[in-house]
Amino acid sequence: MLTELSEPTITLTATEQVNLSVNGAPKQLDLLPWVSLLDALRDYAGLTGTKKGCDHGQCGACTVICDGKRILSCLTLAVAKDGSEITTIEGVAPEGGLHPLQKAFIEHDAFQCGYCTPGQICSAIGLIREGKAKSRTEVKELMSGNLCRCGANSNIIDAIMEVQNQSAHE
Ligand code: FES
Ligand code: FES
Repeated sequence: MLTELSEPTITLTATEQVNLSVNGAPKQLDLLPWVSLLDALRDYAGLTGTKKGCDHGQCGACTVICDGKRILSCLTLAVAKDGSEITTIEGVAPEGGLHPLQKAFIEHDAFQCGYCTPGQICSAIGLIREGKAKSRTEVKELMSGNLCRCGANSNIIDAIMEVQNQSAHE
């Protein structure tokens, strides 16, 4: 005799309200709990400057600054950062101006396609704030999580060293 199988019960997960301060402006987002910070910024907050490269923590394209520290937004759940201050590439410089690293990247020809550049700059801002990397070798090592497929790495290090040296003399 055949027994009738009952339909599986589907439970829809509720969204959660996540409050962030993004580039100084409050953002209240209703997000499913598994939405990454990267997707929250790009798809819900409309800030597409932060790039999705690998989405697996391997390329650094998604780097943003969270409460003063550089993080990989693709590996971070947005709900876990409720109440945090996030700075993306759109917010690193004063309105209408450029951050010293953005200027240095232009001067040193430190990008080609530019896809990795937002993550490189956010990571470099975090690195300089950390105050750890003083030599070219240290900067290279501590920026090794940010990959440039175009091969602009050596010019990127030149640009970071210039700003690093400027900050040391301020
Ligand atoms: S997109 Fe996050 S590390 Fe590649
Ligand atoms: S400038 Fe093209 S990936 Fe870095």
